[in-house]
Amino acid sequence: MKDASPQTIYLEDYTPFGWRIAEVHLTFRLAPHATRVLSRIRFDPAPDAPEQDFFLHGEDLTLIRAAIDGAEITPALSPQGLRCAVPDGSFTFETEVEIAPAANTALEGLYMSNGMYCTQCEAEGFRKITYYPDRPDVMATFTVRIEGTEPVKLSNGNPGGSGNGYAEWHDPWPKPAYLFALVAGDLVNHPGSFTTMSGKEVALNIWVRPGDENKCAWGMESLIASMRWDEKVYGREYDLDVFNIVAVDDFNMGAMENKGLNVFNSSCVLASPETSTDANFERIEAIIAHEYFHNWTGNRITCRDWFQLCLKEGLTVYRDSQFTSDMRSPEVKRIGDVIDLRARQFPEDQGPLSHPVRPESFQEINNFYTATVYEKGAEVIGMLKRLVGDDAYAKALDLYFDRHDGQACTIEDWLAVFQDSTGRDLTQFKRWYSQPGTPHLSVTEDWQDGTFTLTFAQHTPGQQDAQPQVLPIAVGLLGPNGDEVAPTRVLEMTETRQSFAFDGLGARPVPSILRGFSAPVVLERATSASEKSFLLAHDTDAFNRWEANRDLARACLEAMVTEGTEPDDAWLGALEQVVRDDTLDPAFRALMLALPTQAEMAQHLHANGVTPDPDALYAASESLRNAMAARWSGWLGDLRAACTVDAPYDPGAGQSGKRALGGALLALLTRLDGGAAAQAQFDAADNMTLQLGALGCLVQAGTEHAALARFAEQWRGDRLVMDKWFALQVAATAPENAATRAEALTRHPDFDWKNPNRFRAVFGSLAMNHAGFHARDGRGYRLLADWLIRLDEKNPQTTARMCSVFQTWRRYDNARQALMKAELERLAAKPGLSRDVTEMVTRLLG
Ligand code: ARG
Ligand code: ZN
Repeated sequence: MKDASPQTIYLEDYTPFGWRIAEVHLTFRLAPHATRVLSRIRFDPAPDAPEQDFFLHGEDLTLIRAAIDGAEITPALSPQGLRCAVPDGSFTFETEVEIAPAANTALEGLYMSNGMYCTQCEAEGFRKITYYPDRPDVMATFTVRIEGTEPVKLSNGNPGGSGNGYAEWHDPWPKPAYLFALVAGDLVNHPGSFTTMSGKEVALNIWVRPGDENKCAWGMESLIASMRWDEKVYGREYDLDVFNIVAVDDFNMGAMENKGLNVFNSSCVLASPETSTDANFERIEAIIAHEYFHNWTGNRITCRDWFQLCLKEGLTVYRDSQFTSDMRSPEVKRIGDVIDLRARQFPEDQGPLSHPVRPESFQEINNFYTATVYEKGAEVIGMLKRLVGDDAYAKALDLYFDRHDGQACTIEDWLAVFQDSTGRDLTQFKRWYSQPGTPHLSVTEDWQDGTFTLTFAQHTPGQQDAQPQVLPIAVGLLGPNGDEVAPTRVLEMTETRQSFAFDGLGARPVPSILRGFSAPVVLERATSASEKSFLLAHDTDAFNRWEANRDLARACLEAMVTEGTEPDDAWLGALEQVVRDDTLDPAFRALMLALPTQAEMAQHLHANGVTPDPDALYAASESLRNAMAARWSGWLGDLRAACTVDAPYDPGAGQSGKRALGGALLALLTRLDGGAAAQAQFDAADNMTLQLGALGCLVQAGTEHAALARFAEQWRGDRLVMDKWFALQVAATAPENAATRAEALTRHPDFDWKNPNRFRAVFGSLAMNHAGFHARDGRGYRLLADWLIRLDEKNPQTTARMCSVFQTWRRYDNARQALMKAELERLAAKPGLSRDVTEMVTRLLG
């Protein structure tokens, strides 16, 4: 049961645990409603830890027996754990507990999904399995015996003995309990193998439910590519005889890096051309890499406490983004990452959920697996690398692995490695870990006697105490004819206000500032539309070329909304040049064609002091899209035809870029032909990218009825494809229908609301339908709050995560604010509300 009055945990209160554990022995006797867990642990006093009572975490456990050095004891039990007197020196502690995995709907600890046993322990789920010091700085080797009739029984490390009804595993690498995993069930495997750089043979397996074997090849390919890449780029070799991945249908998150036994949400590993889109393939490749990379950044070197979460997550996200850049296009990856950062991290940093990359307090740590910790955490590493340079970064990382292998570390340890290997003082840089909020960077320019001077000023809105940050600002200069006259140079800004001069120039240049989005800031610069068009046409930096276009698109939509103007002709002309330029990567052209989302526009207007009106934003994007389609009607069809792929399906960058551009063009064409081309593509599609893309166009056109039915008929038996079916209808429908449709779908026989993927398919999509969610009468808010209240009783973690869709509530008009606030208050008032959701709602309202 949850604690009635949640406790706040503070970073500054950290104290080491009073004992060390060399080895843990666990025995599991599996049974759905009465699994027995026997543990035997040797505790040795930790020489330099402060005096403390002996306390082990434990939640929702039935204690059957406890003993110290073989003598039975009766410990004091509380909802949080167990306390007892212990001998002064070393001792062996044994417990036997009973748990009920089949009744565990929170999907944390040991639970069941489709008859299969599986675990999720990060952050604090192990305490729902047995009594243990469930904190990341307690590291031990684990020996595990699993008893049960399930044909496949897996745990961490290397396989030991197995026989009739049991299997044993031994993990030789000391690890914290959050990396423990157990899986048992009727599973089949897709095998593979990898020979490491020192010639060791590693057996690879992807374990899935029977019937999913044909969806494993891509995951295996991605795993092998990741293993090879981490050897080549970071010199990191895998360290066990086996590496297992398991696909689980009911999972609160994307995936989990348990040592030697990664557990994945099936949506993040299973793929086939018929059932998965190009975007799915790319995401799977990235997540497989992310979890694999954790083996070094997370597992071999872990976190001292949960405040240090970004130590492993920021770094691992950074590493997986490098991997994707190497496998695909670095420019396209960077643009995609910035779109994502602005869509997910900026609203968090600029609203009531704002927190530093390294938070300093929390009530429920699961609420801090955020875009700030992950994505801003990765941006901070990217800045560090930009500041010290690639070679120094590589050296620092070598030192990090050398110095800290086998340890539980802090951000201080991480920065010390850079300080020691480069001699650079990182005191000011460290503010990136402690100061919340998005810095705004304004710039003015001056031109005199061949010298061009840029003067920058930084401030962080909403953060009174913010000190100036270290900002790496990548700048290049273009001459009047569009040639680059000064190549990219990284300016290092450390003051509140600072100037940088470029001399020896023959003519006043056009600056290209913050190339590659070299720092996660909001750039404020009053530039003319013609200068932006110039950059759109000439910038050699792909990111800034895209950014110039994005600025123009935002300005165009803003003027349409606030002044009722017509779409900007000059911009559309310049954009046409880029979209039709077939020397450019089709994936890049597809990104140029995509408009800012309505949520992005709402953020943009709010930043400019304008209250966003969701209905007006929807109307403006529709009319802009219609204008684009009408204006370009002469060539849309031909260019789309040129994007046709005449080869067997391949999820790589080449083909998927073409399909992305083709898909964007089809969406425009649908505005001219009422859906005829989309229907034809839907009918002929032999892969999910084409099929789903066409279906989305039909939903948008309102002519989806027959296609939706056919799609459901075809894919009835495939949970992951049916998630797309649920999601698409809500996300792509006209706003006035969104809430009604979501509501109707909750009555569909396949709406299994306890499955997080299905719940998110409907309600995550409702929140993404901006004007639909923000329907003036509050229907969208009410429906979502009703379901959050219902889900909280079963699954607090997924409920709490979804509460963040309300984080922008203060941006909107008074009437909408009042409606959202009322729903948040209704949630808050629910008796027995979980600690997770209580914390979220309190912060949202605070
Ligand atoms: N460490 C996992 C990953 O990034 C995610 C775990 C999420 N846990 C949580 N409690 N939200 O790959
Ligand atoms: Zn991670």
